[in-house]
This record gives sequence, C-alpha cells and structure tokens, in this order.
Amino acid sequence: MSIDTATGQEAPAQLSSERVKDIFSSIAKKYERFNAVSSFGAYRTWLAGMMKQAPIGASDDVLDLAGGTGDVAFAVAKAKHPRHIQCTDLVDEMLDVARAHFADGASGEVPIDFEVVDAQNIPYADASYDAITMAYGIRNMPERERALSEMLRVLKPGGALVCLEFSTPPMRLWRALYGFYLKHLVPFWGGLITGDREGFVYLSRSIKAFPDQKGLAELMEKAGFRDITWKNYTGGIAAVHVAKKPEA
Ligand SMILES: C[S@@+](CC[C@H](N)C(=O)[O-])C[C@H]1O[C@@H](n2cnc3c(N)ncnc32)[C@H](O)[C@@H]1O
Repeated sequence: MSIDTATGQEAPAQLSSERVKDIFSSIAKKYERFNAVSSFGAYRTWLAGMMKQAPIGASDDVLDLAGGTGDVAFAVAKAKHPRHIQCTDLVDEMLDVARAHFADGASGEVPIDFEVVDAQNIPYADASYDAITMAYGIRNMPERERALSEMLRVLKPGGALVCLEFSTPPMRLWRALYGFYLKHLVPFWGGLITGDREGFVYLSRSIKAFPDQKGLAELMEKAGFRDITWKNYTGGIAAVHVAKKPEA
C-alpha cells in the first residue's frame, strides 16, 4: 500500500515522492540551520540518544538511509568508528552538503561513500549490512512496508535497524502544547529561515499523520523485525526504535 505522507491516506506513491524531492532539493543548503533553530537544539540530544542505543561495532558495515546532509553518518563515525558507512539519500542536493562536510574531515578516519538511493528500493545485496541507521526518513516514505522489507533484506541476520523519528508525546498536556507548536510555529519559523513555508507546513502535517511509537513498532514487526524496543526523548516528541533482523 502507498500513502500520502502528509495525511496518512491511501494515495499514489509518486505524489509524496515528488513532493519530498522538491522540498529537500530546494532547502538542502538551509536544512541544518532550520534543524538547529526549530528544535531549540534538541535534535543534538536526540542524535546522541540514537548513538547511545545503536548496537554498532568497530568491524561493522553501516548503511545510513535518508542520510540527508550526513548528520547521522558523521555521528556514527565519531561514536562507533565502524569499518565503512554507506550514506544514502533520495536527493543528491542533500548529499552534496554531506560530501562537502566529509571533504572537511567530518568523519575522521572512517570511510564514507555517498549514493542516491530510494530506501523503498535499495540497490544492495541481501544480508550485506550489520546495521542500518535512519533519522527522520521513514515518515517521508509513501511505501513504508516496502521500505522496511527492503531494510530487513539488506541486513545480515542479527543486524539492527536504528530509527530516529518524530513521535507522539504520551502526556496529554505536552501533546497539546507540542501540537500547537507544530501547527503554528514550525511553519512560521521555517518560512522565516528558509523562505519555504510550504515545506514546513508539510513537516507539521507529516508528523501529525505519522504512527505513534507503538504503531511504528507494529509496522516493523509486520515487516519481519523482532526484539523491537524504543526510547522516548523530550517527552515523546522524538523516539529511537531499535529493531533486529532475526538470526537465520
Ligand atoms: C528530514 S531529512 C533527514 C536527514 C538526515 N537523516 C538528518 O538526520 O538530518 C529527510 C531526508 O529523507 C530523504 N528521503 C525522503 N524520502 C526518501 C526515500 N524514499 N529514500 C531515501 N531518502 C528519502 C530526503 O531527501 C531528506 O534528505
């Protein structure tokens, strides 16, 4: 099934894919500034939490999906020193920013290759990665079941998917405040900083339409992942899920 990622309703996949390409190719250069301002720096804490939970070792091959400007890949490089990272994204303009950071030494000694990849159709062999990382990616994919099946396919048995995504605060008051912030302030801030208000209206809508912590875990389980756990950050505004591919 494919959906409109802004509403969660069934729709042709092309609608969401074209929109996401338009948005991220035009905001690529301003993306990092917006991230920092809109989350009041919290995204750094969430990324640190993701690194803490990620079961990645020094001999691992890591695939970063929806890698954007490379934040996750560089954090993995610094925190885990894996053998190799494949940093991928649907939008080459986002990867161009990542390539520039890499050229400035953002990954230290860790080798990183960059490639345009649609996470719903991963062009790599079965069982080729020890771990997959993905931050703020799955929410933007209209064919989520297919994407998760692809992730399972390219992971080695026992390998882990580590997924950071916006989620749903369990406490009602916090959820209401956050809902107001999403609906009114994110489009305002985003528009002011990047000049692309529509992109941030989409961000708010896609977060609202995205499954909560349990819903995402269920999607992962349906795709064949097991031992699924999650940890909330900032009262559940964001969550990191870790899901394992069963041993053969
Ligand atoms: C909000 S950004 C996150 C980037 C990065 N992971 C980070 O933490 O800053 C979302 C990224 O998902 C990418 N994306 C959206 N749909 C995708 C797909 N089907 N396959 C791969 N990447 C996708 C977009 O191009 C964009 O770079």
